[in-house]
Amino acid sequence: MEVIILPSSKEIGALAADSIEALVRNKPNAVIGLATGSSPLPIYDELARRHTEEGLSFAQASGFALDEYVGLPEGHYESYREVIRREFTNRVDVAAENVHGPNGSSQDVEAACQAYEDAIKAAGGIDLQILGVGTNGHIGFNEPGSSLASRTRIKTLAEQTRQDNARFFDSIAQVPHHVVTQGLGTIMDARHLVLVAFGAGKADAVRDFVEGPVSASCPASILQFHPRATVIIDEAAASKL
Ligand code: GLP
Repeated sequence: MEVIILPSSKEIGALAADSIEALVRNKPNAVIGLATGSSPLPIYDELARRHTEEGLSFAQASGFALDEYVGLPEGHYESYREVIRREFTNRVDVAAENVHGPNGSSQDVEAACQAYEDAIKAAGGIDLQILGVGTNGHIGFNEPGSSLASRTRIKTLAEQTRQDNARFFDSIAQVPHHVVTQGLGTIMDARHLVLVAFGAGKADAVRDFVEGPVSASCPASILQFHPRATVIIDEAAASKL
């Protein structure tokens, strides 16, 4: 695992964007794993800027979201499908039909999760997966206790995560209890993992997954087993290393 410490979220976004730009220039039909939450926003801002100002094209690329809430109505402002459209894919030239997300409103969740795994495989696997980390060490929505070999499936959110994500909703009561998420095994299949984190609120999680034991109680620690994991953080997030 390579850990890079930079002064600001803007520089973190720019460095992660460099990896994505290099990938897309080298392999125009690259498959990018897309994360939500606030951490990837500087990456998306920078990629959108490079698209507009420098002609960086995603016309042949495709994207797969990490996770999705269960039970939000289609088109809900906070559904991750909408967030990814708003924050990234609508700002670049990726084709709408090449942007995928797990289906959180299927009647047959198990079949929908399997279909998502199949779709990732059919696309040739994920070249670069963008990740944030939860304050409790989750990646995607793989909460502490998740199997290190897990695949896309339904999960119950930890109370901590519902509290953390309540800021995106009018009240905590509106935060769904269930989600579908790529599993840790699914994430580990990506050829390059780029995890970004900033702010003191992430310092405990960063210390635990970078320096602690590999353990299901800190799902992000699985990155220690990945042959190509890049962790880009600011001083505050690195303060307990
Ligand atoms: C969310 C998402 C994760 C994200 C994490 C951190 O619940 N499911 O993909 O990495 O929590 O969010 P943030 O970047 O807003 O701190």
